[in-house]
Amino acid sequence: MTVAPSISELDVRALWHPLTQHKPLADSPPPLIVRGEGCYLEDAQGNRFLDAMAGLFCVNIGYGRRELAETAAAQMTELAYLTPTMTHPPGAQLAAKILDLLGWRGRVYFSSSGSEANEVAFKIARQYHLQSGKSGGANRYKIIARHRAYHGNTLGAMSATGQAERKIGYGPMAPGFIHVPPPYPYRAHPKLSAAEHGLACAQAIEETIVYEGSETVAALLMEPIISGGGVLVPPDEYLPRVREICDEYGVLLIFDEVVSGVGRTGRLFGHQLWEVQPDIITMAKGLSSGYMPLAATAVQEYIFDAFMGEAGDLRHFRHVNTFGGHPVSTAVGLRNLEIVEDEGVVENARDVGAYALEQLKGLTSHPWVGETRGRGLLLGVELVEDKETKAPLDDAEVLAVLARCKQAGVILGRNGNTVPGLGNILIIAPPLVATKTEIDLLIEALVFALGER
Ligand SMILES: Cc1ncc(COP(=O)(O)O)c(C=O)c1O
Repeated sequence: MTVAPSISELDVRALWHPLTQHKPLADSPPPLIVRGEGCYLEDAQGNRFLDAMAGLFCVNIGYGRRELAETAAAQMTELAYLTPTMTHPPGAQLAAKILDLLGWRGRVYFSSSGSEANEVAFKIARQYHLQSGKSGGANRYKIIARHRAYHGNTLGAMSATGQAERKIGYGPMAPGFIHVPPPYPYRAHPKLSAAEHGLACAQAIEETIVYEGSETVAALLMEPIISGGGVLVPPDEYLPRVREICDEYGVLLIFDEVVSGVGRTGRLFGHQLWEVQPDIITMAKGLSSGYMPLAATAVQEYIFDAFMGEAGDLRHFRHVNTFGGHPVSTAVGLRNLEIVEDEGVVENARDVGAYALEQLKGLTSHPWVGETRGRGLLLGVELVEDKETKAPLDDAEVLAVLARCKQAGVILGRNGNTVPGLGNILIIAPPLVATKTEIDLLIEALVFALGER
């Protein structure tokens, strides 16, 4: 009699996991998760884990929402697929809804992942300049992005990414991407106030634009708060100054809100924390709460106008993706946004996030906790070996803290495989429907995992 292989055996034999060294998996296979409900995952043995990463920053309204399953089933039955050059109800409705939420006149282009949404933004920015009729437009192709930030895995988005460890072995990168340092108040020069540090980082952008030749720069790309790169919150003075610089030099400002969009920071969009408007915004993850692959690139109307022309004159956006604006994804996205509004999910992220940050501050007396920071339910804990020198905690110790959190039933993230030697920031980003109960559980697990030193 032959015995069917177990799922774990199939996994070890066939599946290639992202960001994972497989050699240790033979002894310790990844958890086999069979169910999700609210903020919790359950494995095949019935163990429950608080998913304090909402998957990959995406399951914003929590697991197990029947409303989304029913919406997907109904849409699949009605119209399972449509070429994106035609239109269908959920696609047009979701595009209009996104613009309403942004308060913009503009257009929305749909893709299936955050990486693709960023690629779309780069191509739109370059083509816009070429066709805008403004002086020097034809030469503007460079994209300035920031060290420490992740923007995706495709060649352009990876080139924009400012994380050396994600690039080793995959070069050469696409040309035309330049990096500047982001504000990082915890490691700023001690003589600078947070405001001065923020303004100095903005000045570095201006100098880069000037040195590169301002009429060669198409766009500046940034997350309002660097998320997976270590939860780096800018001082309040930074983004308004960045907007002024972009305006002064005719550079488009692209906000990557793939993580911060749809409530993560306690505002519907992260840029609303500073009331700074981008020219282009990208979003994904929370747009469908991870229930379907869905991403969007929204542009202000003046950008779209540069693409208007006669049939056949090549002024239109010559880009297509088979699954962009998929009827099922957009139907689920639309229903997800209704739930976000009806259940006050953004306000919950703001309030529970404030409670979480307050509780985390209580951990700063621990010798390893250098800083706790964040906005809404996008939170970071920077672990150091020595608070005076701020030497990052050794990688093995950081991993051990994460393992002990899991032992205590809580799954956390960290800024792994980003910048060599600086993978020392724990990341906390639970579903936005988390309550104080989940935060208390999380803090308890962290206290256990950090231990007495
Ligand atoms: C800020 C940011 N931008 C873009 C991406 C890429 O999104 P995706 O993995 O959906 O391609 C990610 C993914 O984690 C991200 O965190």
